Amino acid sequence: MSEIRLETSNEKDSRSASGQKPTRSSRGFAQRLLIGLASATCIIFYQNCGTDFVPLDESALSGLGKFVCGSTLEETFAKTYHPFVVQNCAGCHGGAQAPRFALSDSSLAYNDFLLTTQSTFRTYALNPSHGGAAGGPKNEEAVTLAESNYNSCKPTGGDDGESHVITARTQPLALNATAALQVRLLNNLGGQLQLGNTNLSGAQLDFQVRIDTTASPPAYVIARPRLQTGAAAIRVKGMYIMINGVRIQTANAFMSLDRTINANTTLANGTLATGSAIFEYPGAQPTTDTVQFEFELLAPQ
Ligand code: HEC
Repeated sequence: MSEIRLETSNEKDSRSASGQKPTRSSRGFAQRLLIGLASATCIIFYQNCGTDFVPLDESALSGLGKFVCGSTLEETFAKTYHPFVVQNCAGCHGGAQAPRFALSDSSLAYNDFLLTTQSTFRTYALNPSHGGAAGGPKNEEAVTLAESNYNSCKPTGGDDGESHVITARTQPLALNATAALQVRLLNNLGGQLQLGNTNLSGAQLDFQVRIDTTASPPAYVIARPRLQTGAAAIRVKGMYIMINGVRIQTANAFMSLDRTINANTTLANGTLATGSAIFEYPGAQPTTDTVQFEFELLAPQ
């Protein structure tokens, strides 16, 4: 598309000062024509020009062929691999066969997807002797698309296992987990950081927790973190979970989180992610085990 450039009044002034004398009437017409063409172009191609800029929503972007990442890798999984496996692999991996990445609940499915690797997944999906008639070259296109969209949403856009610099960490909080989901609260986040920017007055962080002790080993579920803000908006990027001071590598449901919560947002309106981190914890002591959250960024804006 050719570039359309409109003169500013300053440019006009300096031009007349330097002695050039444009013919008013024809230039006026050309300018009006350009504005007309520019708006028409905007309206046709972008639908978002002018003062009331409306960002295209997700379905419109998808319609233009642009993949829109979920706010966590779990949400991205739900839009990439999950529809594929539900359609093609659920006969076994949606039921008894581990890994159960084709369960209809995408959150539980994601948890099991993490038990395998993307390259193993690809190998099995493209293997004609796997899973009756389920595997085979016919899956190549769909798997490649799922893979590249999923990878494009990883925090670094790169491979698994990259290190992320942590700039904030909460103090330990006793989980006091039971079989039912219950909310736990850091009610003064600014004063409850072991590491990081303490200028977070008014900020609170809560989450839900439960433990399944009928599983062996027992499994914790940490779900739906929410942030309340005070006078400043806060950006939250890359959230990790530590139990008893040790990072749980498989609890990475929130690691691709990147969200800015507006100033004066309540907990109810400050949901950071709707998913859950589910992880086994051999030897769990639900009443005394502690949780800490680490962040790549937890910063007032
Ligand atoms: C008819 C049942 C069946 C179907 C359908 C099936 N699988 Fe499997 N799958 C299995 C069994 C059994 C195993 C375990 C034995 C093995 O590793 O081959 C397995 C294992 C796997 C593993 C290995 C995980 C790991 O890291 O060890 C992957 C990945 C996998 N399947 C992918 C798929 C994909 C993708 C599909 C759908 C395109 C699919 N499977 C459909 C039966 C099935």
